[in-house]
Amino acid sequence: MMSFNGIMQIIETPRDMQGLSAQWKRENQTIGFVPTMGALHEGHLELCRHARANHERFVASIFVNPLQFGPNEDLQKYPRPFERDCELLRQTGCDALFAPPREAMYGTTGITSGHAAPGVPHTFVEVAVLGDVWEGAARPGHMRGVATVVAKLFNIVCPTAAYFGEKDYQQLKLIEQMVRDLDFPLQIMPVPTVREPDGLALSSRNAYLSEPERAAAASLYRALSKGRELAADGEKDVTELGRIMQQVCESEPLVSVQYITIVDQQNLAPLHVLDGPARVLIAARVGDTRLIDNIEIGSH
Ligand code: PAJ
Repeated sequence: MMSFNGIMQIIETPRDMQGLSAQWKRENQTIGFVPTMGALHEGHLELCRHARANHERFVASIFVNPLQFGPNEDLQKYPRPFERDCELLRQTGCDALFAPPREAMYGTTGITSGHAAPGVPHTFVEVAVLGDVWEGAARPGHMRGVATVVAKLFNIVCPTAAYFGEKDYQQLKLIEQMVRDLDFPLQIMPVPTVREPDGLALSSRNAYLSEPERAAAASLYRALSKGRELAADGEKDVTELGRIMQQVCESEPLVSVQYITIVDQQNLAPLHVLDGPARVLIAARVGDTRLIDNIEIGSH
């Protein structure tokens, strides 16, 4: 079943990628897909290993998607260690890396607010509610940018299954909803969050943290774990759980919580009582860096 022969094709245009996928499909080979923005770490590589193990062909993409960055966000300074990423992907047995330049994805013309703007599409995918709450509210346009680029990538790579990390839980739920609503013929495969030994979820943005910030950042996971522990001991009061978790998190002076909330695992609506499995979502600033994490609580 393994088709790995050590050669990874690097593909830059949607047309070439669609051609290669079509060829594989004619040969009845299944395709596992891992979309990324690069700066790969063990979290990404875990997704890659799943895709590699479950399919005859494994495709990854690297595209730092401008549509999902706000005007004051880190698009320009987002890390782009392309050669290193290629080497890591080769080591996981990647068959093809789709790494388009911006123009190949969004062209050189477009519109924003009626004005011509290079490289902005006319067509967007908006997922109501799941695109508007939490991260959607904190980062206007972000979820629309994610849904739009992922829809494009699905149409370009035509995978049998696509792998997403639970680390970005709202993104995962949004993509699942989009796939149902728009009948994309593929399966979404969630992969549990990969963490550092102290619990910090791996993220490309951890590279921005200074040493003291990096140490303080572990308080996000400490807070989530505390919530899970209290819930396991029978605490059902969502307000109380939130209060304690925020306290644990902000016991580090470098950390400031933006939201910490206990929500329904499917529609991400806030819960009033904890009476079954639910998700805690957290977003916090550590210095200038914004981190997100989540955990399941209330399961037995
Ligand atoms: P990126 O942040 O590069 O993440 C790519 C994938 O890796 C996502 O599915 C993300 O959830 C997963 N991931 C990141 N950190 C992880 C960790 N610690 N454990 C497990 N999985 C982890 O998410 C994006 O890129 C973009 O929004 C994208 C989907 C590519 C669209 O542009």
